Amino acid sequence: ENTPRIPVIWEHYQECTCCSESFIRSDHPIVSDIILDKISLDYTLTLMAASGHQAEAAKHATMEKYHGEYILCVEGSVPLGDDGNYCCIAGRTAIDHLKEAAEGAAVIIAWGSCASNGCVQAAYPNPTEAVPIHKIIKNKPIVRVPGCPPIGEVMAGVIVHYVTFGTLPELDRLNRPKAFYAKRIHDSCYRRPYYDAGLFAESFDDENAKKGYCLYKVGCRGPMTYNSCGTIKWNNGVSFPIQSGHGCIGCSEDNFWDNGPFYER
Ligand code: SF4
Ligand code: F3S
Repeated sequence: ENTPRIPVIWEHYQECTCCSESFIRSDHPIVSDIILDKISLDYTLTLMAASGHQAEAAKHATMEKYHGEYILCVEGSVPLGDDGNYCCIAGRTAIDHLKEAAEGAAVIIAWGSCASNGCVQAAYPNPTEAVPIHKIIKNKPIVRVPGCPPIGEVMAGVIVHYVTFGTLPELDRLNRPKAFYAKRIHDSCYRRPYYDAGLFAESFDDENAKKGYCLYKVGCRGPMTYNSCGTIKWNNGVSFPIQSGHGCIGCSEDNFWDNGPFYER
């Protein structure tokens, strides 16, 4: 009760806000407990009441007062093209904002595939020269939480781990939390027995697809994709892409837009 809530600055650059949308749907822990009890979400363009000059003033007040203590969350990639002018907030480029906010951050979290690997903005031919944030901030470790978007409970889990223990969760060699990214989708997929038995859907509408057979032959990338979708699932544990009848498109893997076509004729 007496522990001060940790300040959080949550930046938005080149993104679609699906990470924020996912985060606010976390139900264990439920997101209202995190925002109202665990952290002080001092700046985020999508959830804060203030806007314009007031919003920027709130961010600068946090950066000053809690220098070296706040969590910096970044949603979105950063464009380097045209001196960064493709993404400007409050009259300054995302490059400037990121460098400034990162300087006093205790911890930096890259939400989603945009901040972690550039995602669709960085896909060929990458017209804005979009890069993930670790290409700009090189003097601090950055926790990468990839996915398009990441699972809400995974995002909540990373924040709550830091709030609870004062340390980052254990990370793998790509700086992803091992608790959520140590296994492939294929390792926990409920269709795996069909894969092992050699029973595959050959098209999305054939009899084998109706029987729930493995989706590998219609392009499932579960064998190459590290994420928790098969165990934690989505929408409060209701389902995940493969359970809905579509293969995994590998949305939590680097450069997934350019890793071959999703569909072939
Ligand atoms: Fe693996 Fe995909 Fe088949 Fe599931 S549907 S067993 S993840 S190849
Ligand atoms: Fe993405 Fe594959 Fe999960 S497409 S949502 S990592 S099942």
